[in-house]
Amino acid sequence: MNKIAIKVQQAFEKRFGSSPTHLIRAPGRVNLIGEHTDYSGGFVTPLALEEAHWIAARPREDQTVILHSLDYDDSTKVNLTEPQLQLKGWQNYLNGVVWVLKEENWPLSGWEGVMSGDVPQGAGLSSSAALETALIRAFAEFSGFTWLPKIAAKLAQRAENEWVGVSCGIMDQLISACGVSGHALFIDCRNLDIQHVPLPEGLRIIILDTKTRRGLVDSHYNERHSQCKEASAILGKNMLRDATLSNLEAQAAEMEPLLYRRAKHVISENERVLQAVKAMRSDDHQLLGQLMQDSHISLRDDFEVSSSALDEMVECALTAPGCLGARMTGAGFGGCAVALVTVEKEDEFVNSIRECYLKKMSLQPNIISCTPADGASRHDPLTEL
Ligand code: GLA
Repeated sequence: MNKIAIKVQQAFEKRFGSSPTHLIRAPGRVNLIGEHTDYSGGFVTPLALEEAHWIAARPREDQTVILHSLDYDDSTKVNLTEPQLQLKGWQNYLNGVVWVLKEENWPLSGWEGVMSGDVPQGAGLSSSAALETALIRAFAEFSGFTWLPKIAAKLAQRAENEWVGVSCGIMDQLISACGVSGHALFIDCRNLDIQHVPLPEGLRIIILDTKTRRGLVDSHYNERHSQCKEASAILGKNMLRDATLSNLEAQAAEMEPLLYRRAKHVISENERVLQAVKAMRSDDHQLLGQLMQDSHISLRDDFEVSSSALDEMVECALTAPGCLGARMTGAGFGGCAVALVTVEKEDEFVNSIRECYLKKMSLQPNIISCTPADGASRHDPLTEL
């Protein structure tokens, strides 16, 4: 059994004096290709990670939620009948989820739990979406409403948009709720259609954490979202998803160069995703790797969400043994890159990255070899610990 699951169950037993009735899990994610496209109704290809948030919990008789975070060594209590919700630290995610569930009139019942997670925070691996999804999964169990993953993802996204204040798209919440082990999900973010794409055989997806975190990510992110809306309005489209590169060229004169570059990234990235999905289905590994490299250049030069650490990491990856392609992943400005590597060269690749990145940035990277996992799930507590 997962070591975080064991940890939260043991901590629950110590804190509440008996066993939890449920173990709830929701994973982080890495996105293969299709970055900063989701909030323009575009295409993405994320996969759920084994790294996840876990909550050990049991129902309460009253209308109270008591939650202890092992990672923050801190507890919080919310009265569901008259919640006094404030914007505050890690509790914000619980408060945001309670706020959105009440806004949308879901029936709520009390529960108590202990939580912890191993999704690196602020690294672009969707630790906050995983937490929101885990909390909604817990409410579904204890309040007796059916777990509907797409609806849950929309609720979590609304909590993030309107409570936390980040105008994110739906990708992170959707993959955390709907992930399928062994697969990437090809998601159309306009209608939320999902296709499961098996990962190409003989290849590994490796996350390369630069160990850099940049502040103000949220405000830069919201600014990119507004620029995409502005560009689509100039192009006379509802969303950039509906525009083509020839539409863009035809209107280029009416657009500031900055908006032109933002739109060019989104429109070309959507095309790259469609080609990448075909490449995965036809085992064209070289093409898939090339598309990832093109994606990085577009994010770096046109969308301007990369950073020197991410660029150095991608450079290191591209010169390491067995690498077919690499790019930054997630919102950017720091955090992680993702690389596609042949299985037989994985160890050499990892050694080469460690040496190269340390030399360039004087930092030890965190390297995670991915095993695509299932989305949010409920498990029985362990009987023998
Ligand atoms: C963050 C957001 C997502 C998505 C990515 C960039 O992870 O939460 O909705 O926009 O950035 O692709």
